[in-house]
Amino acid sequence: MQNNKTVLVTGGTGYIGSHAVVELIESGYRVIVLDNLSNSRDTVIDSIFTITGVVPEFILGDIRNGALLDSVFKSHSIDAVMHFAGLKAVGESTEIPLAYYDNNVNGTIQILNAMKAAGVRSFIFSSSATVYGHPEWLPLTESHPRRATNPYGNTKLMVEGILEDLAACDNEWRIACLRYFNPVGAHGTGLIGESPAGLPNNLMPYVAQVASGRRPTLYVFGNDYDTADGTGVRDYVHVVDLAKGHVNALAYCERNAGRMLAVNLGTGVGYSVLEMIQAFEQVSGKPVPYKVVSRREGDVAACWADVALAESLLKWKAERGVRQMCEDAWRWERNFEN
Ligand SMILES: NC(=O)c1ccc[n+]([C@@H]2O[C@H](COP(=O)([O-])OP(=O)(O)OC[C@H]3O[C@@H](n4cnc5c(N)ncnc54)[C@H](O)[C@@H]3O)[C@@H](O)[C@H]2O)c1
Repeated sequence: MQNNKTVLVTGGTGYIGSHAVVELIESGYRVIVLDNLSNSRDTVIDSIFTITGVVPEFILGDIRNGALLDSVFKSHSIDAVMHFAGLKAVGESTEIPLAYYDNNVNGTIQILNAMKAAGVRSFIFSSSATVYGHPEWLPLTESHPRRATNPYGNTKLMVEGILEDLAACDNEWRIACLRYFNPVGAHGTGLIGESPAGLPNNLMPYVAQVASGRRPTLYVFGNDYDTADGTGVRDYVHVVDLAKGHVNALAYCERNAGRMLAVNLGTGVGYSVLEMIQAFEQVSGKPVPYKVVSRREGDVAACWADVALAESLLKWKAERGVRQMCEDAWRWERNFEN
């Protein structure tokens, strides 16, 4: 099912980007991947071929290279950009903030400049629930005040601001900022998934590595939060559902010019750290030994999404539950030495 539209996917060999590439191809789009492989491998392209039967064009390059971007837009007929490339570790962003502003803010400006010059105006951006900071109410609606609590979050807020200004001054732009909650899981084939370098920042890959014996103990950061069992509650969303949300957002942008849409992508349901550990133990049949340590600075007690906007505007709803998230993460963990 070809639809003759071509999408440039930055960060397309990364965790979420690779799943979006698969969903785009399966929805009939042509895809060009641009990635500097700073946090992924080009073998992901082979896995995408195995899953879809299509080899997306791969360009090894950096989004901060304006000349490269101009040549990519000149030599291809591109209809839209999905922009995943960037740095994403909250802790690291406090240590090397300039690298975060350079990759995430400067890099995005370079892409937008190249798009403007080439007359391409459809843009889907990877934002994050981190833009909401400490929740004043739950579930988090898109109108919740935004305030970042670390440099990474600041980069997302700054880009959202840039995109708002852009949409306001030129109504040809079609922009969607997708605010992800907690992406987890892997493709059902077990061929693509999350491969964190070093110690995982996120719960699910950490749990998977402890279950498989790669790490001895999971550290649970705090069990004295004001939640049912005292551990942090998050809205985990399956990465395949998330990827499908991008395809729906692109279709929405194709239908609606002159808007900047900001929309939550989550399930609308929160699970605690202990509930996730228990679910993973059930699925894997392996124990996940854990140790409670003190709270991590900046972590909120609970956070989950209001998903009404995604349902009404994007016609999107997450379909995969916690069991499938754990099953797919476990398959990926066992299949690959990632
Ligand atoms: N994973 C999450 O929990 C999460 C949550 C909210 C938002 N996001 C955002 O989603 C996007 C994708 O996240 P992910 O989890 O897939 O991360 P990832 O690190 O797996 O993927 C990002 C990709 O971008 C590439 N990249 C980084 N800097 C680049 C540059 N300057 N030029 C070209 N390529 C570059 C990396 O090599 C990598 O392949 C990021 O913008 C991230 O901030 C992620």
